[in-house]
Amino acid sequence: MNRTSYCTDLSLKDVARRVTLCGWVKRRRNLGGVSFVDLRDSSGVIQLLFPRGENTLASGYTVNREDVISVTGVVSPRTAKNINPDMITGKIEVRVEKMEILNTSLTPPFLIEGDGSDTTEETRLRFRYIDLRRGRMQHNLALRHRIFKAIRDHFCNQHFLEIETPVLTKSTPEGARDFLVPSRIIPGSFYALPQSPQLFKQLLMIGGIDRYFQIVKCFRDEDLRADRQPEFTQLDLEISFPRGKEEILDLLEGMLFELFRKELAIELQTPFPRLTHREALARYGSDKPDLRFGIEIHDISNTVRGSTFRIFSTAIASGGKIAGINAVGCASYSRSAIDSLKEVALKAGAKGLLWIKLGEQVTSPLSKFLSSTEIASITGKFSARQGDLILILAGNNIEPALSTLRLEIAQREKLAENTEWQFLWITDYPLFRVDETGNLTSEHHPFTSPRKEDEEKLEQDPLSVLSNAYDLVLNGTELGSGSIRIHSRPIQERIFQLLNILPDEAQRRFGFFLHALEYGAPPHGGFALGLDRLVMIMAQEHSLRDVIAFPKTTTGSCPLTESPVPVTPTQLEELKLDVKVP
Ligand code: AMO
Repeated sequence: MNRTSYCTDLSLKDVARRVTLCGWVKRRRNLGGVSFVDLRDSSGVIQLLFPRGENTLASGYTVNREDVISVTGVVSPRTAKNINPDMITGKIEVRVEKMEILNTSLTPPFLIEGDGSDTTEETRLRFRYIDLRRGRMQHNLALRHRIFKAIRDHFCNQHFLEIETPVLTKSTPEGARDFLVPSRIIPGSFYALPQSPQLFKQLLMIGGIDRYFQIVKCFRDEDLRADRQPEFTQLDLEISFPRGKEEILDLLEGMLFELFRKELAIELQTPFPRLTHREALARYGSDKPDLRFGIEIHDISNTVRGSTFRIFSTAIASGGKIAGINAVGCASYSRSAIDSLKEVALKAGAKGLLWIKLGEQVTSPLSKFLSSTEIASITGKFSARQGDLILILAGNNIEPALSTLRLEIAQREKLAENTEWQFLWITDYPLFRVDETGNLTSEHHPFTSPRKEDEEKLEQDPLSVLSNAYDLVLNGTELGSGSIRIHSRPIQERIFQLLNILPDEAQRRFGFFLHALEYGAPPHGGFALGLDRLVMIMAQEHSLRDVIAFPKTTTGSCPLTESPVPVTPTQLEELKLDVKVP
């Protein structure tokens, strides 16, 4: 078994060459005393012909799907009628002289060449080692590898050092729960797995490492979705003495420009467009708008102010607003299609959905309450034309529902192409927001600096303070975020105070870091990019699970290894842990 070639290395130019190939049996067909086997290796598939003849024919009949074989034979052209234009190697086949079965396989639980519809995701993950043989997974993992390599090469060429930071560490607040690891040597104490290397990369700056990057695993115990895994990979970076945020945005645009050119042959337009956080919310209802399509939000509160229509007057009286979108060309939507849009809006928190259809005639539930002139002034606000459908919401905090409606229309109307790449920076985030319990919390993380000019407002009017944070969005997905950091202890302490982290607690949780800030911490800033998300979008997939070799399900478990699992009483005893299972 001395492999000479990979399947798809071979072509008509190799005709008459004797080759040895190794791989898996994709399928076998027996036709009139001859048998054909499609052989698959990591490069692709080639047809093997087992001609009539005692030994070869007999061996060709004995192999089954996913058996592992090695064959030696001669590359031959296919007859014209046997040419398969859908196969890279469709013009040739290998006439087998000798075959060795290296291993046999049980019947696989699903078709490797299928589209996955013959199985469930649970089964795919349980038999991941078989699932990984699919062309799609091979392609995605190879793409992932090339993306990681290109990113590493890029930053190494820009004088960055790749430095590892600890995995057994202390909590770094990024808004999720920590995964904890009990210490055996210090019973009752726990390490936390890093939600990000945030504090370590800042300590590296204090340590004089001018430019750091790392391709690093992060761990967050949070509710999982298609674009969230409990362990995921970031490109994490930090630089000292940045030329403001501009230097960091430039660095990322430069890297992404090169990466897209190299891997997808796409010339991205740089600089990427920018929106302030406030503008993004006003125009798209979201801080991660998908800019592959327009459908902007229009606020019509002023247009309808003074209207006696109760829904409008109540919204305005309660400090809310009336706003909507123009679903261009959607006047043909039936009542039931509009009702299902209403369901979508209600689910996203709206109280109801008003609409104006500009069909042959203008129809709207509003006609009962507003004059045709009032309706015309509303449609004018949306620059609507015949054929359009206007969707209107009224009340407080209607932005999330407007954003959801916008995405829903884009999906129904197929407005977002997978082959378009709309990057966008969101800047000027507020430093704080109010959480569900009514407390002040960081919009990013507590180490983000406030804008210099807003520092004096920190205590009096914290919600009006803007930060030096920025997010990167691609096609409506948050790809990464970063900021210029706080590098002075007094400001860091003021932020902790405002976040209700009292001095004792700040000392206990972050004392080491506060202390480090007192020893000549340079101005610094950085960024982290979600690499699984980047690969997912570049591979045109819709789930991170399709670009991670061994991902977890939405319950955070791994069907292959069946983790997480209970541990033995001896292990618990060593850790001095008692477990209460409900
Ligand atoms: P942030 O928390 O925004 O920033 O994370 C950066 C990026 O990491 C990706 N990401 C995830 N990907 C998959 N699964 C998850 N559970 C998950 N959580 C986050 C996202 C996200 O934009 N320390 C800061 C960065 C900084 O300030 O430098 C941080 O981690 O793409």
